[in-house]
Amino acid sequence: MEHILQQLTSLGAEAQRALQGAANQAALEQVRVRYLGRKGALAAILRELADLDPAERPAIGKVANEVKQRLEAALAAQREAIEAVAQQAAVVAERVDVTLPGRPVPMGRLHPSTRILRRICQIWSDMGFQVYRSRDVETEEMNFELLNIPAHHPARDMWDTFYTTTEGMLLRTHTSPGQIRAMRQYCPEPIRVILPGMCYRYEQITARSEIQFHQVEGLAVGRHVTMTDLKGTLVDFAHRMFGADRKVRFRASHFPFTEPSAEMDVECIICEGQGCVVCKQSGWLEILGCGMVHPEVLRNGGYDPAVFSGFAFGMGPERITMLKHGIEDIRYFWANDLRFLEQF
Ligand code: DAH
Repeated sequence: MEHILQQLTSLGAEAQRALQGAANQAALEQVRVRYLGRKGALAAILRELADLDPAERPAIGKVANEVKQRLEAALAAQREAIEAVAQQAAVVAERVDVTLPGRPVPMGRLHPSTRILRRICQIWSDMGFQVYRSRDVETEEMNFELLNIPAHHPARDMWDTFYTTTEGMLLRTHTSPGQIRAMRQYCPEPIRVILPGMCYRYEQITARSEIQFHQVEGLAVGRHVTMTDLKGTLVDFAHRMFGADRKVRFRASHFPFTEPSAEMDVECIICEGQGCVVCKQSGWLEILGCGMVHPEVLRNGGYDPAVFSGFAFGMGPERITMLKHGIEDIRYFWANDLRFLEQF
């Protein structure tokens, strides 16, 4: 009996050391099988109990049980310890560096022409003008005749035209024909509209001219619309668009559909009027054409020029964007080169 007790004690000590020395779950399992398994060392000793005097069995059985329980507790503790170390290692290995900058997500953006159009429309709608949408494919009559530009008149040279295969139909060369459409729709009511849209010209494409570009047309018709209204409204627009301190001037000009006609310049937005390459050293930038609606045009729109008067203007948004950002080539606008577009 002494012999078995001693065996149990030394086995317990040995197994405990082995368990604590197991570095991973696989090694631990080997130790468990060796000492606590069904064919393990402890089971072998317990089998010897059968040969003992029955009176001695309970005492030894008790010790054997204690050893077994202690070892099972040690096994569980070691299992947890190994698990904890593995987890800690995983935490370190899989650590997320929250200070790393994120991967940039490429974002789409509005085309520079869309941006300037929206800005222009916003300003005019703040001033009480409605947006009037007119068509891109026009009749020759709307685009020219009704705007006081007769066939074969040399004034047509101002607009090189894309004609369609349908007789009398063309791509509008300017947004001005929308004036006639707006007047015919609203006559005899007063009108305050702007007409943004794409225009087309049959031109050699160069840094300064494209075959397509936007215009924003404006039209005000009423019983007492004067040249003073024209100037005041356009100066107000220029101040909202380019800043309240911006100087503005009007120069006499000529358009078949207005009389008198003028062009409006703003103090150069690049050099502030000092003179630079953009304003060709003049200190001024031409922004738009304008004038009092020609009586013939009013009549073509359905208004009696003896009772009604109006002013009109037309500006080129791409040109304004070019001036604002010092863009020297209009071809960038429709070339779809991301290096250009992404700058806006
Ligand atoms: N339609 C003219 C053009 O294409 C621009 C223009 C000038 C429009 C004077 C107007 C205006 O309404 O009054 O060049």
